[in-house]
Amino acid sequence: MRTLRIEGYVIVSADGMLADSRRIMPDELKFEGDKRFFAAALDRADLIVHGRHSHEGQPNSPQRKRIVLTRTVGAIADDPSNTKATLWNPAGASFEVACDHAGVNSGTVAIIGGPDVFDMFMDRYDTFWLSQAPRVKLPDGEPVFSGVPRQTPQDILAQHGLLPGESQILDAAGGVSVTPWRRRLHTS
Ligand SMILES: NC(=O)c1ccc[n+]([C@@H]2O[C@H](COP(=O)([O-])OP(=O)(O)OC[C@H]3O[C@@H](n4cnc5c(N)ncnc54)[C@H](OP(=O)(O)O)[C@@H]3O)[C@@H](O)[C@H]2O)c1
Repeated sequence: MRTLRIEGYVIVSADGMLADSRRIMPDELKFEGDKRFFAAALDRADLIVHGRHSHEGQPNSPQRKRIVLTRTVGAIADDPSNTKATLWNPAGASFEVACDHAGVNSGTVAIIGGPDVFDMFMDRYDTFWLSQAPRVKLPDGEPVFSGVPRQTPQDILAQHGLLPGESQILDAAGGVSVTPWRRRLHTS
């Protein structure tokens, strides 16, 4: 039986941006505490999923199984540059087929962006780990979800049935914290 747990990870600026106006994650959004938190989470994950420009670039990255979204393939293909990676075009194959190709049918899947990929899984997250850097502003930056900045990232997570848990401080000097947004349990 397929039992995948879906978790999202991102750090955003005070105005809900994950990258600057050049669609690059600037150094001002990089904090050691958040990097450690993110690396530890990815070390526990069984599968990483991201768009072609959102590779996490960590020392343990080569060991990780991943699915990379791209329109350069029709459906599913091996990645010629990485034996642990599956190339996936959602227009041609379901996520389940991509997971089968990656050889992962149970465990935790970490969704790490960018915005289109976060949007695609919005109704499937078990937990979305939202880190925020409240002293960083990225005017004209790249919004984390398609509804930002009209709405905050928190509003959007709540609208999709997620509730905030207890926040942890990741970088005291920068005021950076992470909040787990967990899916409400259905009682009926
Ligand atoms: N602050 C953070 O925590 C955080 C998190 C994630 C990303 N980032 C940064 O944000 C920026 C995101 O870059 P980005 O906006 O270009 O996003 P991206 O999702 O990483 O890359 C976009 C590419 O992914 C593929 N793709 C995305 N959605 C697809 C879909 N529905 N179907 C098929 N292919 C799809 C396409 O690749 P092809 O062009 O090959 O078709 C597209 O050009 C990067 O600078 C990244 O470092 C920051």
